[in-house]
Amino acid sequence: MTALASVPPHTRATHQTAPNALLAAVADYYSAKLAAAGPTPRGVDWNSPDAQRLRFAQLLKLVDLSRSFSLLDYGCGYGALGDFLTDIGATCMYLGYDVAPAMIDAARRLHRDRDDRTFTHDAAGLRPMDYAIASGVLNVTCGVDPARWEKHFFGTLDHLARLATRGFAFNALTSYGDPRMRRPDLYYADPCQLFDHCVRRYSRHVALLHDYGLYDFTILVKW
Ligand SMILES: C[S@@+](CC[C@H](N)C(=O)[O-])C[C@H]1O[C@@H](n2cnc3c(N)ncnc32)[C@H](O)[C@@H]1O
Repeated sequence: MTALASVPPHTRATHQTAPNALLAAVADYYSAKLAAAGPTPRGVDWNSPDAQRLRFAQLLKLVDLSRSFSLLDYGCGYGALGDFLTDIGATCMYLGYDVAPAMIDAARRLHRDRDDRTFTHDAAGLRPMDYAIASGVLNVTCGVDPARWEKHFFGTLDHLARLATRGFAFNALTSYGDPRMRRPDLYYADPCQLFDHCVRRYSRHVALLHDYGLYDFTILVKW
């Protein structure tokens, strides 16, 4: 266990502040996707609505859906997870956060009739909620070198851990896919290394899901 593991994650000081050049590049990348395809799965760079929703179903295995809860959707895009929560009948105060202001504008337009769905692109204003979920935020590297991306990757996990009081979940592309199919602009993570990292750093209660038929995996971390 690291020293960090002895302090409840949501009480640790925040380190992620104003958008840096990497985050600005990520925001530009996704804003271009949105401009091309609108508030649709393709507009957040997913191949299909079915795959987008299958990922949500994995991530929500973190949550006790039988009672009401609050949830931070970290990298929310246009807020599709908010719709998914409605469709499955979850009672939830939902906050969507995205680094791309254009995504937040689209999300606010789509969900304007819901006062239990709010959206922000202000990272500094985020406060811990019961759960934090991140789908697809750790894939597109925008050409930064692997060492820098890994620092960003692990920093994002720390940020998620600080923003959740009951647990957090994220997905990433798996390094167990066919190497010939890899794209140079995407990051393929080692699921076993990440499982080990999460157990040592955050909690004994970690699940690794690598069985749902996509080229990614999901990790659930519970307290
Ligand atoms: C693949 S899309 C997925 C959107 C949404 N989670 C979904 O599944 O429909 C990733 C989203 O995360 C946002 N994003 C990427 N990195 C982020 C970061 N470090 N902080 C906040 N948002 C981020 C992008 O702007 C983009 O809207």
